[in-house]
Amino acid sequence: MTDSVIISPQVSWEELKLSKPLSLGVMASGKGSNFIAVADAIAQGKLNAKIQVVIYNKPQAKVKEKAAEFGIPTVFCNHRDYATREEFDQVLVETLKAHQVDWVIMAGWMRVVTPVLINAFPDHIINIHPSLLPSFKGINGVESALNAGVKIAGCTVHLVRPEVDSGPILIQAAVPVLEGDTPETLHQRIQPQEHHILPIAIALAAQRS
Ligand code: GAR
Repeated sequence: MTDSVIISPQVSWEELKLSKPLSLGVMASGKGSNFIAVADAIAQGKLNAKIQVVIYNKPQAKVKEKAAEFGIPTVFCNHRDYATREEFDQVLVETLKAHQVDWVIMAGWMRVVTPVLINAFPDHIINIHPSLLPSFKGINGVESALNAGVKIAGCTVHLVRPEVDSGPILIQAAVPVLEGDTPETLHQRIQPQEHHILPIAIALAAQRS
C-alpha cells in the first residue's frame, strides 16, 4: 500500500540544497525515531545541518541512547522540576542558546510550548504531528483519526505557533487507513512517512526563511 502514499509538496534533495549548514536543536520525549531520521539525513549528506544538542524530558526516553550513538550531546530537562510551563520553557531556551542552536526541531516532543520558547526562535521551531492537520490536534492524533472513521490519515510538519499543533504547514504525507487498523498498526505505517518528510521540511523551512 506504500504506492498510495501521497506527499506534498514533492521536492528532491537536489532542489533542497542549502549553502550554509543549519544549527539544529532536537527536543524529543520518546523513542527518537524522528531524531534518527534527521541525523541519518545529515549523515547521508542530504540535509546540510548539524545537531548541536538533543533535549529530552522523560528519564526513560530512548532518544538519549540514540543520540549518544551519533555522538550528539544530550541534556535532560525535567518539566516536573518547574512550577509553570513558562519557567520550563525558559530553561529550554537557555539550553538551546548555550548550544548555539538556530532551529528547534520538536521530534515527538509531548509538551505544550509557550511564547517564552516560541518568541525566542521566531519562525524557527518545527513540529511533527501524526495527523493531517488541522484535523486531530493534540495527543493521540492517530487514535482520534481512527475513531473518527477517516479513510486517509497521515502526518504533518509545520512551523510552531502558540496554538497547539497550528502554524504554517511545510509538508504533509497522506497514508490510507486499512481495514482492521489499530492505532498501533496505523501509527507504524505513518512513521516511515514522518521519517521521510521531517528532514525535507527542515530544509524547506530554511530555504523560505
Ligand atoms: C511521532 O509519531 C510524532 O508525530 C508524535 O510522536 C511520535 C514520536 O515518535 N508527536 C506528537 O504526537 C506530537 N503531538 P519518535 O519518538 O519515534 O520520533
